[in-house]
Amino acid sequence: MDNTSRKKTAISLNNGVMMPALGFGVYRIPPEQTADIVLSALETGYRLIDTAAAYNNEKGVGEAIASSGVPRPDLFITSKLWPTDYGYKSALRAFDRSLAKLGLDYVDMYLLHWPLPSDFSKTIDAYRALEQNLRDGRVRAIGVCNHNAANLKQLIAETDIVPVVNQIELHPFFTQEELIQTHKRLGIVTQAWSPLGGVNIYDAAPDKARHVLDHPVIASIAKRTGKTPGQIVLRWHIQQGHSAIPKSVHPKRIAENIDIFDFELSHEDMDRISSLNTGIRGGDDPQIVTTDTYPVIIAP
Ligand SMILES: NC(=O)c1ccc[n+]([C@@H]2O[C@H](COP(=O)([O-])OP(=O)(O)OC[C@H]3O[C@@H](n4cnc5c(N)ncnc54)[C@H](OP(=O)(O)O)[C@@H]3O)[C@@H](O)[C@H]2O)c1
Repeated sequence: MDNTSRKKTAISLNNGVMMPALGFGVYRIPPEQTADIVLSALETGYRLIDTAAAYNNEKGVGEAIASSGVPRPDLFITSKLWPTDYGYKSALRAFDRSLAKLGLDYVDMYLLHWPLPSDFSKTIDAYRALEQNLRDGRVRAIGVCNHNAANLKQLIAETDIVPVVNQIELHPFFTQEELIQTHKRLGIVTQAWSPLGGVNIYDAAPDKARHVLDHPVIASIAKRTGKTPGQIVLRWHIQQGHSAIPKSVHPKRIAENIDIFDFELSHEDMDRISSLNTGIRGGDDPQIVTTDTYPVIIAP
């Protein structure tokens, strides 16, 4: 890898829009703390902020953007539509609501948060609303989360615009290689959620063996390279050409997580990290999602 690719901090989406490779996720950041924490992330240098209607903190993200002084075109703001708002008209209304909470007149990327496999026609109708938002210039790129290869195939067959991104659970314990190959074939960027394996830590999983950042292989690479385990794992994502959106509420970690563009991992280290795959996801299988199993109603 030459010096230029080592420092490659942006990814070109299939519609030509450039997206920062590394972003800041805000899931589980309490609404009342969001403005301060996102402002800290913006001051540290993050330009991609990943929120969602269901995180109930779009307002705080908007406040941070407004007070940051960062020019709007320099930012890349993502939000997501929750399944209880799927359907064409309800999706349009929900998008208006998100924009109002963010205090923005456009977002850079807007994603379907989950597929609804048992009622996929609703997923399609929601995606058609995203296409309309794109045509109206109110979003610069549209995509999906948590879709498997069959979901993507059906979505692409029944709509006009290939998603730019599929945001999926992805970390060294769950590497989803087949799905990533599908993304490559379709021109879809892979964006890792829980890139540090956070989904295995939340809800106080007592079993340390499930914690990616505590794994001896990660720890030994970190020690040898003088980097932290978080930096090693994030570098592993970015070096594969994926995007990653780590979350932290701590300024020290927020700074550490974006400071990964001045070193590279060897092929051997990349392979050793990839070989930690267990094939077991930490989160729910997206194929079980219905509006009954995921019943969140988004506040007005
Ligand atoms: N599309 C979807 O369905 C979906 C699902 C889940 C998440 N997401 C997105 O992905 C983002 C990230 O995922 P995530 O929050 O699940 O997991 P994550 O970013 O992999 O991990 C976050 C956890 O790791 C800790 N952490 C962060 N940096 C660290 C570091 N350098 N060293 C040690 N620990 C560190 C955080 O604790 P502290 O905060 O205490 O530092 C938190 O407990 C979310 O915020 C959200 O934007 C999307």
